[in-house]
Amino acid sequence: MIVAIDGPAASGKSTTAQGVAKKLGFLYLDTGAMYRAVTLAVLEAGVKPSDEAGVETVLGEVTLSFELEDLSTQILLNAKDVSGPIRGLEVTRNVSAVSALLVVREKMVAIQRQIGGGQDSVVEGRDIGTVVFPRAEFKFYVTADYETRAARRQWDLKQLGIERSLQVIVEDLKRRDIKDSQREHSPLTKPEDAIEIDTTKLTIQEQINTIVDSVKSESE
Ligand code: CDP
Repeated sequence: MIVAIDGPAASGKSTTAQGVAKKLGFLYLDTGAMYRAVTLAVLEAGVKPSDEAGVETVLGEVTLSFELEDLSTQILLNAKDVSGPIRGLEVTRNVSAVSALLVVREKMVAIQRQIGGGQDSVVEGRDIGTVVFPRAEFKFYVTADYETRAARRQWDLKQLGIERSLQVIVEDLKRRDIKDSQREHSPLTKPEDAIEIDTTKLTIQEQINTIVDSVKSESE
């Protein structure tokens, strides 16, 4: 069974998806972390995200592997754990450009289908319910207003020792939303058959329970 959770950056997707996976005993897959890891590889190779041929070469040379235990998506790039570095500012600023490339999407989607297709999974991203698993049994689209999203992201960054003003964060979020929803391949959009959850005024427990209750009531 697949529970697909899509939505824009810092909307509360990851926390919700992890909590849902824990309650249901499903695998949790963070597809954004995969695009972030590819972006890190591209930047480390000194390749510009706009250089599609260069990105393709990087994709062919690196090894990406995943450890999907303990409700986190640990990403290894050339056998090195990059779960921390992929949250940095440079990766965040370039990830939308790298993930807009077809060559990147095709490779990531194939891996996602292989992992999620084999077991009950909660998969979060931008195109899970539309492209990766269009026949997912459950689809949710998570949103929140910009103020709330920026405050959440500011807190996330603080945990990583990064200080950013709310204004800068809002600008970054807006830039990324525009790129993610206007790109040619698999743009961010609400799947027609998804249930929308606005998390602006919800607690984490409420967000998690909304999804868990709906999955449980329909699977009974
Ligand atoms: O953590 P945050 O909400 O900031 O974003 P993320 O889920 O880590 O995703 C980072 C970026 O990867 C997004 O802004 C998209 O450009 C890209 N992405 C994508 O294209 N398709 C996905 N299924 C997931 C992420």
